[in-house]
Amino acid sequence: MPDPTTQSNYQQIYTTNVDFHWKLDFENQIIDGSATHTVLAREDGIKQVIFDTSNLEIRNVLVDDRTVEVSCPNDVSKALIYCGLVKFVLGAEHEVMGSALHVPLVPGIQTGSIMKVTIFYKTTKGSTALQWLTKEQTQGKQFAYLFSQCQPIYARTLAPLQDTPSLKITYTATVASVLPVLLSAIRVSPPSDGLAHDGKLVGKDVVSYVYKQPVGIPSYLIAIASGNLRYKPFPLIEGRSWKSGVWAEPELLEASYWEFSEDTGRFLAKEEDIVGPYKFGVYDVLVLPPSFPYGGMENACLSFLTPTLLAGDRTLVDVVVHELTHSWFGNGITHAEATHFWLNEGWTTYIERLLQQFLHSPAERDFQYILGSTALSEALENYVDRPKYQRLVIDFEPGEDPDEAFSSIPYEKGSTFLLYLEQTLGGLDVFLPYIRDYVATFQGKSITTWDWKAHIYSYFERYGVQEKLDALNSVDWDSWFYGEGMKLPVELSYDTTLSEPAYRLAAQWDASRFTSDVTKLDFSASDVETFNSNQKTTSANAEIRLRFYNVALKDPTSLSASDFAGKALDWVTGRDGTGMIKGPHEVLPRIDAALAMQYFAQSEEEFHPIARKLIEKVRLRCIAQR
Ligand code: BES
Ligand code: ZN
Repeated sequence: MPDPTTQSNYQQIYTTNVDFHWKLDFENQIIDGSATHTVLAREDGIKQVIFDTSNLEIRNVLVDDRTVEVSCPNDVSKALIYCGLVKFVLGAEHEVMGSALHVPLVPGIQTGSIMKVTIFYKTTKGSTALQWLTKEQTQGKQFAYLFSQCQPIYARTLAPLQDTPSLKITYTATVASVLPVLLSAIRVSPPSDGLAHDGKLVGKDVVSYVYKQPVGIPSYLIAIASGNLRYKPFPLIEGRSWKSGVWAEPELLEASYWEFSEDTGRFLAKEEDIVGPYKFGVYDVLVLPPSFPYGGMENACLSFLTPTLLAGDRTLVDVVVHELTHSWFGNGITHAEATHFWLNEGWTTYIERLLQQFLHSPAERDFQYILGSTALSEALENYVDRPKYQRLVIDFEPGEDPDEAFSSIPYEKGSTFLLYLEQTLGGLDVFLPYIRDYVATFQGKSITTWDWKAHIYSYFERYGVQEKLDALNSVDWDSWFYGEGMKLPVELSYDTTLSEPAYRLAAQWDASRFTSDVTKLDFSASDVETFNSNQKTTSANAEIRLRFYNVALKDPTSLSASDFAGKALDWVTGRDGTGMIKGPHEVLPRIDAALAMQYFAQSEEEFHPIARKLIEKVRLRCIAQR
């Protein structure tokens, strides 16, 4: 069965490399250019290659035997002059999957044939992956800004691609822009640590940025950002070959450097010690404007981060730890389809918390699981009417939107399942060598839950210890994969050293509301002096905020609901800086629908296109439920 989220024929003929030539047009808010695919036939007599597109304006398509290259140094997009164009067909627009682009091929193609297919195209206003910001929407207010978000299936709105994570592609790109350009790849020229914008006038002069991604990556990791961006390298770590640094608008560069410089390299090095070498050469982070719809996104070589991580106390670096962990789990070993998304997020969450244990304490790791179990309960509750999405392994129908299923469930059920396996198989002494073998076996591949399960069995079979095989056989695999409802197949118990003081204090506060004599109350700032940011609720931490709104808005008729609805809406929509996409899913249904929609209608244009899409879906569901 092919990936149900793509219309491409990647099982018959597939892209191995793409060469992009783009011009960024900030005035018209479009990218204009071409994508040259190197495709490899897997079948004799294949007649066409099909790409995913959505909201793209396709202008011309040519196949290599008809291409004549001429030099045209002034305009990269015209460097290819063609004598014969092929007659392509653009299919009808499917709401989720977009329009399939059919490109006919010459007769007589054989398995193993390699061809080049160049598509000349433009993005449009409807390209969901792209948010174009006016200069007023940026930190510096002087220059426009562009950034992309391709996961799960928006890469097809940035370029015609076989948009499925079951393929790993390399890419090269030349991007002409009046503002510095970043891509999820290795910078070839001009150098990252050279003069900003190659010493040319930022916002005025066009500079060509050249990048190369030599490691195969899934299409959802293709990413671009362009704005008034500056770089500051992190200190090098002895004995490590990779480079790491931070990108941000100049106004935020020092704060960003301070927040992440101490921990990024340290965690990356520790992770290498645990699971094996970092394969991408460069690990940079980019601090985005507030409307970036996630806490973080693990784009190859360049994690995107929300600016709300700049807490000023380095307490939110766990998001960086999460994103850099994806370099192995997600970017290295990739889920083959949305169905197996938990392999990305569950593994990453499990390893992220393992690092917490090694660099902090076992109690810290357990505390994260305790917090996670609350998030899991809330997410499961949100899907009571759609229990299919409560599953770890979700069988999507062709054309079903994977964003509908996005929640904490794959993160929390997935990481808890792995922790349960670790405990069942005899703890970290046994599990760590297994993890290394898992990474070594599947690094660079796209896999399903079944590949993962077959490997864990074969790994323990190889060592022939019956006790371990008995342990594996004791696992109720089907309940973990397909279980629905509020409960996990097995409830684990955790070290409560860190959670207990927080819960105790909360209980005291809760009880105090019935105290008539307030002079008897004994609370002070010293109560929380020793707490970390996860133990407090006053922090700007977006995860905590999400939970706060979930509580405050639980009863829509309550006073707290009317007090906080406006604030929650500001937050959900990213206006006040934390446009986390979990917001629309979990918070919006709790707000008076009419109020929410009135608010939305006032400023629709300001919202991130993905947030816009999700809000519209929630609206339709609210109407349907009435
Ligand atoms: N890859 C995800 C973000 C994502 C998932 C985007 C699916 C689109 C579709 C990223 O690694 C992530 O999990 N981000 C989290 C933060 C993390 C610390 C849990 C987020 O933004 O909430
Ligand atoms: Zn993640």
